[in-house]
Amino acid sequence: MTIDVNLGRIGSDAGTTVIVGLFEDDQLEEGTPPVLDASLRRYLREILALGDFKGEKHQMVVLYPHGAAPPQRALLIGLGDRDLFSLETARRASGRAASQAFRLGTTELTTAVHGLDLHGFSPEACAQATVEGILLGAYRYDRHKTTPEEGAPLDRLTVIFNQRSRAGSVQNGVEAGRISAAGANLARDLSNAPGNDLPPRKLASKAREMSKSYDLKCEILTRKNITKEKMGALLAVSAGSEEPPRFIILEYGEPSDDYDTIVFVGKGITFDSGGISIKPGSGMEEMKHDMSGAAAVVGAMRAIGEMKPPLHVVGLIPSSENLPDGKALKPGDIITAYSGKTIEIINTDAEGRLVLADALGYADRYKPAAVIDLATLTGACVVALGHAASGMMGNNENLMTRVRSAGDTSGERVWPLPLWEEYHDEIKSHIADVKNTGGRWGGALTAGAFLEKFVDYPWVHLDIAGPAYSEKATDYCPQGATGAGTRLLIQMIRDWGA
Ligand code: BES
Ligand code: MN
Ligand code: ZN
Repeated sequence: MTIDVNLGRIGSDAGTTVIVGLFEDDQLEEGTPPVLDASLRRYLREILALGDFKGEKHQMVVLYPHGAAPPQRALLIGLGDRDLFSLETARRASGRAASQAFRLGTTELTTAVHGLDLHGFSPEACAQATVEGILLGAYRYDRHKTTPEEGAPLDRLTVIFNQRSRAGSVQNGVEAGRISAAGANLARDLSNAPGNDLPPRKLASKAREMSKSYDLKCEILTRKNITKEKMGALLAVSAGSEEPPRFIILEYGEPSDDYDTIVFVGKGITFDSGGISIKPGSGMEEMKHDMSGAAAVVGAMRAIGEMKPPLHVVGLIPSSENLPDGKALKPGDIITAYSGKTIEIINTDAEGRLVLADALGYADRYKPAAVIDLATLTGACVVALGHAASGMMGNNENLMTRVRSAGDTSGERVWPLPLWEEYHDEIKSHIADVKNTGGRWGGALTAGAFLEKFVDYPWVHLDIAGPAYSEKATDYCPQGATGAGTRLLIQMIRDWGA
């Protein structure tokens, strides 16, 4: 996949497939939009005059100018109301066009930068969003198909802009977009992988492989090391599986007095059957995505390896299967987490918080300025927020503000949920320090309260169970894993020093 960034006009090259985004009020008078080639503008103006295409959001038509203008194809996409434009508009429109291009089998695309001439959006941000949308929308997961689906993956993207003074910022934005999309698409690949193809061992080797290409340190703890470290919760969750657990440590940079250490923690349950508290059969296949938090951490660490920010960033992934057998963890069991706290098991299906407890305890050794954990933790969070946002809980307002703003910028929204005393009361145990589930109600919050017992630093928990995968294709994501959280983490790192 190559990306070129060229000064010029869109639609001036014969034989290309171009993406043209138009707002509802675009009239295509002479010289508007300035980036459009004159002959293509005249051709499109005739099309607009027919009244079929109104520039509405979600509208898209494929045109074949057939000599009336140089391009072989033009994908005309609606950007909607100019005043309502956001970076997400650019991402979605670009994603739709890229997905259409895939179906058509178009392997080369040329696009302008959407929103470039609007006030309030930097050329860099617009270029980033446009490229992200295209690369995310062109993503497909087809490695298990013996005959490929109809269509073809993108192998060349050309981004056109028409003001020389913007060359640097557009170029930077394009590069930023490439990096975040590559991170998110890596996360999607990991999350889409079936459980039998990506047990903890394999997730660890994928993380190691990535770390070598991007100059990160990678340490992988095996069952022996995990036992020695006394990670009793991770061991307990993995007890019912033939597949051994892994604890993956990815590290960018090193500790320094000059900058902060940030730790990401990702839930890495490569398949969650529920264990002895087994789940109902219907929809259980979706639980192969129960390592989406881990996937986001691996994807974000890849991006950080490329961006090389002046920070120290650590990714921690406790990884296991959750299966029932004769050795499996049982309701009523009491286990001891890495921190020394004892946990009474009420439900073995509340396994994510257990493996996270050990990782959050382990994070303490880095003396972190911030720890963000990501986990497909509760069905209750999906009930609360649906698929449009992740639930955010934490112990530090300032950090929550940063995370929320990174979510808004990246289009991966989060919404705050409380961690009041009442939720902590729900998980008091008569026999151990804490129990692993609360009552029927407020499941996302009692899970968050449980995690809070294992942190001793500024911390945010993101329950990504809703956004992690999608039953149907959206503008820039086909059905399946979305890579949720990856771009948020990357954006937070971009903004951190600022
Ligand atoms: N991985 C699930 C949460 C989940 C459910 C993610 C649906 C995505 C979609 C988690 O391990 C789990 O099973 N949670 C239980 C907790 C309960 C036993 C307190 C749940 O949400 O039902
Ligand atoms: Mn579970
Ligand atoms: Zn789970």
